[in-house]
Amino acid sequence: MTNKEYTWAKAKAKDWKNYLPPTRPSISELAVIEEYFVDLVKSNPRKKYTLAILGCTVEFRSLVHKYGMEVTIIDFSKLHFEILSEQFMTYKGEEKFLEMDWRKMKSGIKFDFILGDLVVNMLDNENRELMLKNIHNMLAENGLAILRSWIEPKEKLLNFESVLKFVRKKYPNVNFYTSTAGYVYPAYINNSEFGDVGKLKNDLEDLKKKKLITSAEYNYWRDRLKYEIKGVAVPKLKVLNKQFSKYFKIKKMKQGVDIFSDIYKIHFLKKK
Ligand SMILES: C[S@@+](CC[C@H](N)C(=O)[O-])C[C@H]1O[C@@H](n2cnc3c(N)ncnc32)[C@H](O)[C@@H]1O
Repeated sequence: MTNKEYTWAKAKAKDWKNYLPPTRPSISELAVIEEYFVDLVKSNPRKKYTLAILGCTVEFRSLVHKYGMEVTIIDFSKLHFEILSEQFMTYKGEEKFLEMDWRKMKSGIKFDFILGDLVVNMLDNENRELMLKNIHNMLAENGLAILRSWIEPKEKLLNFESVLKFVRKKYPNVNFYTSTAGYVYPAYINNSEFGDVGKLKNDLEDLKKKKLITSAEYNYWRDRLKYEIKGVAVPKLKVLNKQFSKYFKIKKMKQGVDIFSDIYKIHFLKKK
């Protein structure tokens, strides 16, 4: 029985290796975060920083191991941790694992940094608040949270077909999933703040019947949606900034240089 409380289950963790940006961090987004660490280590080469990663994002883990940080991984599922850790990482190192729900997490140690990839998109407004409060409590004084977050696109695209018209015109030569994903999931969000996956699947079938998409484009999306429980929550930027500002000072808001970067922000949040 799929636990609808969470956006992820074992099958999605197993399928994760097949995912592409923007649902995974892109090279240019990782460069934004690495640039910060390079300056940090340059300014204090001997300091061993403590860092927690919310979720098991291998791109982040490899990056922080490259800079010799003390790493703790926090995820509600040890099984997901084991499955996702099978993915390739250029840099590896010692890691502590805490099997905890971010809404209830606490740790004995305070962290200099807490990183999270689309973690705000795994929770609705009310539950996100709980997580942000815990992140605040788990950071050391002057600690920093670095969160990549998916925000509501300004283009009001109502369904897959309108997204299709938009990307065929604007991004004809970009990978179909990479150009569509950022707009498709938000188009199916209903008042649960998560997506109506059933309607999304039906609309994908319609596009195939109407021969508006190729079999490759259809197959990739169909295979990802097989393990989709309730999609993601995609808040408006102003809602997210208001929630962040309750616990943090927004030091910087950056983004990568990809076609989807306007709707994937990287916030550098200093503990208040
Ligand atoms: C880092 S998040 C998001 C990753 C990805 N970018 C996405 O779009 O799905 C995925 C991970 O978060 C974990 N997760 C989801 N909700 C959680 C929660 N409330 N508490 C702890 N871990 C959670 C899942 O088990 C999974 O390993």
